[in-house]
Amino acid sequence: MKIVLIGFMGSGKSSIAKKLAERLDLEFIEMDELCIKKSRRNSISEIFEKDGEIIFREIEIYTAKDLINRENVIISAGGGVVMNKINLDYLKKNGIVIFLDTAFEIIEKRLMDDNTRPLFKDKKKAKQLYDFRLPLYKYYADVIINTDNKSVEEIAKEIVSRIKK
Ligand code: S3P
Repeated sequence: MKIVLIGFMGSGKSSIAKKLAERLDLEFIEMDELCIKKSRRNSISEIFEKDGEIIFREIEIYTAKDLINRENVIISAGGGVVMNKINLDYLKKNGIVIFLDTAFEIIEKRLMDDNTRPLFKDKKKAKQLYDFRLPLYKYYADVIINTDNKSVEEIAKEIVSRIKK
């Protein structure tokens, strides 16, 4: 089994993936962490600052490619994977893609004090990015889960029941 969680920054991909990893006995993989390792930088912000977004997107593609043949994993994908179709070609290979659909207002509150995400520094631009990407997340998703006002536990349960159907 390969499960891939997609969704905007702050939609809860990592916490939900960790919970599902425990529950389904899968290995948890954070795509951003793999990108950082590949880049030899120390953080996503540093990659954006020193190499730029274009290089980050290239690293992201190589990372998605490396994950093609992985099994028994749950992958928390970076929020921007939908910007390059090839990422989804790789991630969808033998995998099920789940979109965590979270309202922008909720994300905004969650990321209020976050300074680890270069693309969320400017709220207005972040909202534009959110609106642009929403149809892409929906298009690539095999399953869509609305997460608004639900706990991590509730969302994990819902995902388990949806993928068993
Ligand atoms: C990004 C999302 C981030 C990270 C990078 C770019 C994006 O991942 O990959 O900052 O373009 O939405 P998270 O969704 O895990 O925050």
